[in-house]
Amino acid sequence: MSRKPFIAGNWKMHNTVEESVNLIEGLKAAKNKNNADIMVAPSFTSLSAVVRASAGTGFKVAAQDCYYEDKGAFTSQVSPVQVKGTGATHVILGHSERRSLFGDTNEVLNKKVAAALNHGLVIVFCVGETLEQREGGKTEEVIKDQLVNGLKGFSAEQLKDLVIAYEPVWAIGTGKTATPEQAQDTHKAIRAMLAEQLGKEFADGVRILYGGSVKADNVDAIMAKEDVDGVLVGGQSLIAEKFNRIIDYN
Ligand code: PGA
Repeated sequence: MSRKPFIAGNWKMHNTVEESVNLIEGLKAAKNKNNADIMVAPSFTSLSAVVRASAGTGFKVAAQDCYYEDKGAFTSQVSPVQVKGTGATHVILGHSERRSLFGDTNEVLNKKVAAALNHGLVIVFCVGETLEQREGGKTEEVIKDQLVNGLKGFSAEQLKDLVIAYEPVWAIGTGKTATPEQAQDTHKAIRAMLAEQLGKEFADGVRILYGGSVKADNVDAIMAKEDVDGVLVGGQSLIAEKFNRIIDYN
């Protein structure tokens, strides 16, 4: 089954509006020779400007999170309605930094998934285990719990545009990458879990991205694996030449 590659950059808490626009200008040099979907996730403050700067490029623009209420007295939160209002079409939910630093439990994420779907945002849903969980042999159990409870109550039809990102927490920002074999094994296991949860057709079609210290010199081997359909890149997505090389992986 051939799935369209998906290359995503998560800019985290980096870049002013001006820096964000400059980065988009730099990304226009990528050839996109693999005909991938390309997504960038700037801070909320830069979303509108990045949407405007991306006009005509085909880049998909994502928020890094959103709240589950449409509006109200929720100081500092940003709703899916507001995200859509910037022109962004995608949202990352469940990033491990959201889970570990800001209290995004599977239950909270389930509400965020509902809200994002309700407003037609395409979700990149992150899952992944800590080092302790991996060493304790709990990787699959943890991910299954994240998928079952995070996506609870939704059908394959409702989730048809969903993208999954597997990001082992121990590989994020640490310089430690999962080996291509570790990524493949876990991606395969995730696809099997999704087949059980949402059906084989869904599982065969869903794109599963790998994230965690992806860089120019490991992207080719990771992308060569059968069940790896793309990458979610943090640090290396902040430098246009580096991210362009990742977009144009071999
Ligand atoms: P990293 O981040 O590429 O800097 O490890 C990945 C992520 O958190 O999405």
